Amino acid sequence: RLGRRAEEMSLKAYVVGGFVRDLLLGKENQDLDIVIEGDALSFIKSWEADGCRVAVHERYRTGTIVFPGGRKIDVATARREFYEYPVALPKVVGDSLKHDLYRRDFTVNSMAISINGTSWGTLIDYFGGRRDLQKRQLRVLHNLSFVEDPTRVLRGLRLKHRLGFEFEDNTVRLIKSAIKGGLLALLSGTRVKNELKLIFLEERAYPIVLEMVHLGIFEALFPGIKIDRNCLRVIRRLSFFLRRIHYDLPDMGDKVWLAFLAAVLFSSAEWVQEATIDKLHLSKPDREAVERALNDLGTAENAVGGRVIRSHEEIYFFLEDVPYVTALFWAAATEQWRVRRRILLFLTRLHRIHPILMGRDLIELGYPKGALIGKILDELLRARLRGEVETREDEIRWIKK
Ligand code: CTP
Repeated sequence: RLGRRAEEMSLKAYVVGGFVRDLLLGKENQDLDIVIEGDALSFIKSWEADGCRVAVHERYRTGTIVFPGGRKIDVATARREFYEYPVALPKVVGDSLKHDLYRRDFTVNSMAISINGTSWGTLIDYFGGRRDLQKRQLRVLHNLSFVEDPTRVLRGLRLKHRLGFEFEDNTVRLIKSAIKGGLLALLSGTRVKNELKLIFLEERAYPIVLEMVHLGIFEALFPGIKIDRNCLRVIRRLSFFLRRIHYDLPDMGDKVWLAFLAAVLFSSAEWVQEATIDKLHLSKPDREAVERALNDLGTAENAVGGRVIRSHEEIYFFLEDVPYVTALFWAAATEQWRVRRRILLFLTRLHRIHPILMGRDLIELGYPKGALIGKILDELLRARLRGEVETREDEIRWIKK
């Protein structure tokens, strides 16, 4: 449909980037990116009449179309490096697409597929992307790629490990000189944060972090940082938990990355920890979760550790107000197996426990609205944690008693 619409409007449309790469690799990818030769804005707006929600960015001539089923598609106007006159002379067909593709990071991401009428399905590969896919290598399109955008070093590492590719020799050389030349230090904290988050959220984050350490990327980003075997051990454990008990853990969404950040900072001096957190512009709650993780590991070990038996109640009420990611970090960072086991018990089971009866049930049972109800529910929760009640009837009996 997208192609037919473009055809009707005499525009040329292409699917580009990660979607094409993954299609050729036989991998699923839900992110459809379309590039239009001509003006994407009128194309995007035309979908409003079909019941789609659309949003456009006038200045960049880009936008998104959200189809009624919820599927979202990004549409951009093929961009040229240099200034384009508003009434440019008609260009050679394909010229602006080629420029658009040339601005991209790696050859495997620089391919397009036409979705117009007769040329539907034609692969456009100006820079040898398909050959590099076959060779399973990541290669930049030109030597200034990392100068243009140093986040590509981090993107490259993420992609390399996700796809199981290698960097081509010249690309490795350019990465090393980008790091040595201090290009990563020029990036804004927000951009670094976004890339780190994506790396830590990868299924196999540990090998990426390991390679980042070997390349000296963390030192380049955060001067003075100290990443030692302890940090790496914590990161390995975090990855292990997320792989093995992911479905039993509370849903932390993308906040999980904060536990990895704390792990990376685990062995550094306090001023480095603070400077890093400052640089990344964390939100207040995120910042507090990381600081608490780093500062209160000892407190947590004292509260739930030791050879004495700790009741479920005790564990629950110590961890109840702790952000899940902070608790997850402690479980990975402690060297005391009892502490680890008890925190994981909370994260996999105890945190889910709550009374069956709810406030309005108690009102129906004749209790007055107000603080008393909160108190009863709290006591019921404690009784449940002690294993004294199981069913709803147990709870009612317990209250009457
Ligand atoms: N791109 C780039 N330089 C960047 C970021 C993105 O050249 N710093 C290009 C890449 O060629 C990429 C395209 O923009 O294919 C779209 O970016 P994005 O959606 O972030 O990447 P995907 O390749 O779809 O990767 P992922 O699967 O990780 O989302």
